[in-house]
Amino acid sequence: MERLKRGGKLSYKHTKIWNVDNWDGKEPLPPELEEAGLCISRGEAVAFPTETVYGLGADARRDTAVEQIFAAKGRPGDNPLIVHIGDRSQWHPLVSSIPDMAEKLADAFWPGPLTLIVPKSDAVSEKVTAGLDSLAVRMPEHPVARALINEAGVPVAAPSANRSGRPSPTKAEHVTYDLDGQIAGIVQGGDAGYGLESTVVDCTGEKAVILRPGGITREQLTDVLGAEHIVQADAAAEEDTPKAPGMKYRHYAPSSPLVLIEGGMQKAALAARREGKTVGIMAVDEHRRELEASADVFIPLGSKDKPAGIAAKLYDNLRAADQSGVDVIFCETFPKEGIGEAVMNRLEKAASAS
Ligand code: TXA
Ligand code: MG
Repeated sequence: MERLKRGGKLSYKHTKIWNVDNWDGKEPLPPELEEAGLCISRGEAVAFPTETVYGLGADARRDTAVEQIFAAKGRPGDNPLIVHIGDRSQWHPLVSSIPDMAEKLADAFWPGPLTLIVPKSDAVSEKVTAGLDSLAVRMPEHPVARALINEAGVPVAAPSANRSGRPSPTKAEHVTYDLDGQIAGIVQGGDAGYGLESTVVDCTGEKAVILRPGGITREQLTDVLGAEHIVQADAAAEEDTPKAPGMKYRHYAPSSPLVLIEGGMQKAALAARREGKTVGIMAVDEHRRELEASADVFIPLGSKDKPAGIAAKLYDNLRAADQSGVDVIFCETFPKEGIGEAVMNRLEKAASAS
């Protein structure tokens, strides 16, 4: 791994690829993961698969390691990172207390796509928490992620492994596209299963606040805590609870404008074409026959009866829409229930940014 330094920023002649696609998560541990783990423990930034999206991990206790994440992503320094642990016992040194509701949620959903915000200790770098008193912690379920964290032997700070503002990576190729030459290596371990980021729940107040909808649905959280113990982030904002700082940034957005259409897709496409624009349409498979002729590029999102499938491929489809080079992209909307809430949250952010 040849490290070059240009203008204070690290760059790599070769970003190493460790392919563990065929590892089933059982013993013996592939040497590729040992090497990648060592790389993190030495203070470098390494991308790896999780069940939600690919993350870009580094030793959460070391400023210089964490700085590499911010530099490679071009991420604003005031946007804190999630610390990933391989084992439940690892979170005790990282936090100053564990609220009851956090314990309950961890019991129910860890390992898995849930991030808990709890009061922090001083064990992690201040760069990770960006000046907040709280820390975001998640124990991922993906066997490669957990094995890597355990190999590294350190808490691993990891945001999604995309350039800031781009859709999160759900395949190793997406990471290569965004970060090749900027990071030490990429652990390639197949496509991310959920395809959308973890649900972020703030557990530092009286009630649990859903800061970001994600892999664990509101309905699942309600089953564990009861509806009366959960508030919407917007309602909480009125009560002065801070939101996930990252949610204020431009996100997930293709470079052509993305417009969400709740009905009248053909009409909208026709009007755009009359203005001389090329049109991309993103819609469910069931609407393909009806809509394909109205589009220069049609991107099928999957069956409307399989919302988890739509979520899993959403970012890949947004990247495809971006690369199609059309002047405007129209996308169907979805019911905001189950995983549909997270799908719509990401689409609305992508649309509002364009
Ligand atoms: O699924 C995921 O969560 C992926 C994988 C890699 O684990 N990670 C991820 O990280 O999506 P990132 O950095 O892209 O998003 C983390 C979000 C941001 O919106 C950030 O502002 C918020 O969590 N966050 C982090 N620490 C926080 C804190 N102490 N208080 C409030 N929000 C926090
Ligand atoms: Mg992200």
